[in-house]
Amino acid sequence: MTIQPTGGADSAPLYAPSSEIAENAHADAARYEELYQKSVSDPEGFWAEEGKRLDWIKPFTKVKNTSFDYDNVSIKWFEDGTLNVAANCIDRHLATRGDQTAIIFEPDNPDEAAQHITYKQLHKEVQVFANVLKDMGVDKGDRVVIYLPMIPAAAYAMLACARIGAIHSIVFAGFSPDALADRVNGCDAKVVICSDYAPRGGRNTPLKSNCDKALLRCSDKVKLLVVERTGAQIDWVEGRDYKYEDMAAGVAPDCAPTEVNAEDPLFILYTSGSTGKPKGVVHCSGGYLAYAAMTHQYVFDYQDGDIYWCTADVGWVTGHSYIVYGPLANGATTVMFEGVPTYPDAGRFWAVCEKHKVTQFYTAPTAIRALMGKGPEWVEKYDLSSLRILGSVGEPINPEAWNWYNENVGKGSCPIVDTWWQTETGGILIAPLPGATPTKPGSATKPFFGVQPVILDDKGNELSGATEGVLAIKDSWPGQMRTVWGDHDRFVSTYFEMFKGYYFSGDGCRRDADGYYWITGRVDDVINVSGHRMGTAEVESALVAHETVSEAAVVGYPHDIKGQGIYCYVTLMDGVEATDELRAQLQAWVRQEIGPIAKPDVIQWAPGLPKTRSGKIMRRILRKIAENETDSLGDTSTLADPSVVDDLIANRANA
Ligand code: WTA
Repeated sequence: MTIQPTGGADSAPLYAPSSEIAENAHADAARYEELYQKSVSDPEGFWAEEGKRLDWIKPFTKVKNTSFDYDNVSIKWFEDGTLNVAANCIDRHLATRGDQTAIIFEPDNPDEAAQHITYKQLHKEVQVFANVLKDMGVDKGDRVVIYLPMIPAAAYAMLACARIGAIHSIVFAGFSPDALADRVNGCDAKVVICSDYAPRGGRNTPLKSNCDKALLRCSDKVKLLVVERTGAQIDWVEGRDYKYEDMAAGVAPDCAPTEVNAEDPLFILYTSGSTGKPKGVVHCSGGYLAYAAMTHQYVFDYQDGDIYWCTADVGWVTGHSYIVYGPLANGATTVMFEGVPTYPDAGRFWAVCEKHKVTQFYTAPTAIRALMGKGPEWVEKYDLSSLRILGSVGEPINPEAWNWYNENVGKGSCPIVDTWWQTETGGILIAPLPGATPTKPGSATKPFFGVQPVILDDKGNELSGATEGVLAIKDSWPGQMRTVWGDHDRFVSTYFEMFKGYYFSGDGCRRDADGYYWITGRVDDVINVSGHRMGTAEVESALVAHETVSEAAVVGYPHDIKGQGIYCYVTLMDGVEATDELRAQLQAWVRQEIGPIAKPDVIQWAPGLPKTRSGKIMRRILRKIAENETDSLGDTSTLADPSVVDDLIANRANA
């Protein structure tokens, strides 16, 4: 059945769900309206009901206790309930679906056999992993850093922490030793878990040796647990390093789940902000899990028997909520893919969809754009008739990519759910429901149950009707982050200070006459490179840490594939010669300091930077130059030295 575009407000085409999809989905349009109204008029009653989707050890009697009041920001959901997250993701499914596949593991190398791990096997693996952690001295509330490739052990490690009430903090395996050390120190981790190597896209990242480097900067009490992935040669530090397979052979097979409070932290995930070092976003057990499970069920219209695939990495929040916690809490079959979209060729995603008969496919616009560039023949080679729903996340999806996705992958018959959310929000806040919401290419459409988005002007006034401004949320939802690890003041000042009484998202947004939301991108100094968040301050501080650099300013600019690219203005120390060789060196330096995703796309030598008389760099101007919009620079009269701008324009690098 083909979805026919019809006109919506703004003259954007509107794709209504087919009647077949609407009839079989968890919610059609009427049901969405009814539930949404209930969720905002009676949040207590609505979430009291939804909280029951989890198995509680001690059922909650309190539902919502939240305040966005600047002087007293506090967020608690189901606060007197106790539960265990791993038991909710595994044990409670054993009686009904013990032999069903929980995880399909698809290795990087297509010639290596895929693995189908049943709920029973998952139960076994997680209990053993949990006992290994206990053996290493990990207790309830202790932090464990996970630095693993996309292998089943990553899910086992997460769930093992959850089983014993330990708090995991995953560090993306593409991050550098320095970035890893910062995070290990930031959460004071007792144990780091890594593998020997991480195969990805036919290459092998030496994770164990990265850990060896990182741990030189950490307390010598930190222990390293090494899981075998490739079996290749690694160095060993006696007394600090533990081999997982040896440990596993020596522990008991059973591990009872530890009772935790709904508000006990489940994980910390470091994410970039506009200033300073990445912050440790804290998510707690009860509300987060209920929200991840509910959004997974409704937004992807997950039904029994579906094979659901989210291509994210567990190093990002999308992997937490929509590869592991949401799907497993729902007793789903979830695909874990170790590789990249273009290895061994540009047909890999579609080969995997065909091979495992994937029904829901959830990826990022940057991947779609990259594959779009390789031509439709890579998609046409494969049978994609199992697909029912397509998803997008991480950045605004441009209508060209949306159309390509719809026509070539969905064959015009799969609703596309463009899901807007953030590490901080724990789960999806704005997205269509496949059977309920007509979609418009480029719009994340409508709020999920319980979510009240508002658009504010720069003074914090709520704007009504069709309008544009910054996106904020009026009231709490259960998946919301609770605090910044070790720095509650930073939590309050980052999200609740600028616009009092609201959660401030940091995104710009437009609302059209149909009440649809269109995210326009970050309004702060965060850039979004291939769907990965990066603070410009992080790249700047890496640059100025190089001996030749005196000053640096970093901005984003539009990039065809990555969404945004990294454009750096660099002022060198006196006497240092600006050469192409040095430029390449600085690119490699940032890559090494932060990780490959942070490698600058452009470095422009800047003898001076545009500063106000008080010394503040005017990034607005630098952004315009990087975007090649030099005829709309705006007012430059407040600059201490307006002539630096002419020089920057004259020597603009071609991005
Ligand atoms: C952006 C990823 C437009 C946005 C889940 C947000 C999006 C940031 C979308 C969060 C979308 C994410 N449309 N923009 N569908 N999804 N973003 O924390 O700027 O890695 O603030 O979470 O990505 O990135 P994060």
